[in-house]
Amino acid sequence: MKKYLVANWKMNPVDLQEAENILSGYLEINLQSDIELVVCPPRIFLRNLIEKSGGKFFWGTQNCFWEDIGAYTGEVSVLQVKKLGAKYVIVGHSERREFLGETDEMVNKKIKAVFLQKLVPILCIGGGKEAKNKKADALKIVKGQLFSALHSLPARTIKNQEFLVTYEPPWALSTVSGNQSAPAKKVAEVSYFIFKLLTKTYGHQVGKQIPILYGGSVNAENIQKFSKKLNLAGFLVGGASLNPKEFAKMVDLME
Ligand code: PGA
Repeated sequence: MKKYLVANWKMNPVDLQEAENILSGYLEINLQSDIELVVCPPRIFLRNLIEKSGGKFFWGTQNCFWEDIGAYTGEVSVLQVKKLGAKYVIVGHSERREFLGETDEMVNKKIKAVFLQKLVPILCIGGGKEAKNKKADALKIVKGQLFSALHSLPARTIKNQEFLVTYEPPWALSTVSGNQSAPAKKVAEVSYFIFKLLTKTYGHQVGKQIPILYGGSVNAENIQKFSKKLNLAGFLVGGASLNPKEFAKMVDLME
């Protein structure tokens, strides 16, 4: 199976010049394996960065709106980012659930819109306010968010289109935990649980093709703790993806 490294720049950096500096660092990355490197910068930089990247990476956006066009002040549609050249859309990130009030229902509408435009959703589950407490029932939260995100989506969509799932506990995000990732045991338990839910719902053949990623303080120091031992398809990387040297190291360590 392909491996994925998704760079989520969040609301960084502050201007295009700095964004281009990060991209220059990325262009030095030695990408020769089966790793799909997906870059999700703030949307205002997307066009310039895609143009400058010479087709080296795959591109994504950190959010989307569910309608294609119309009177939705401040929103950007899947169709619009598709026309810019994005292939991936992060949906339901923990920070959006927590700070922007993104509900399961909104996540469901967004994921449907992404599938409709034939882009690839990177569905984040396990996050939001209810999951902030480390002692919260992660399995219950993950199950609820997964099934409501996929609610009323035909099984053939899941079967025929690419789709990624990321387990992302909010207490392990680098900005919250000070770079303390979740324990490997916890990630193993939850990712296996997600795998079981998917195979039970869509059948073994389909379920086992769905890549399951982990996000939360993954960096060059700890990536091997996850990539060597766990059956993960990749990582969603926030903070460490803003440092191209460190990110390049992570690509090497994943191979
Ligand atoms: P982080 O972010 O790597 O900074 O913890 C991860 C994420 O956005 O899921």
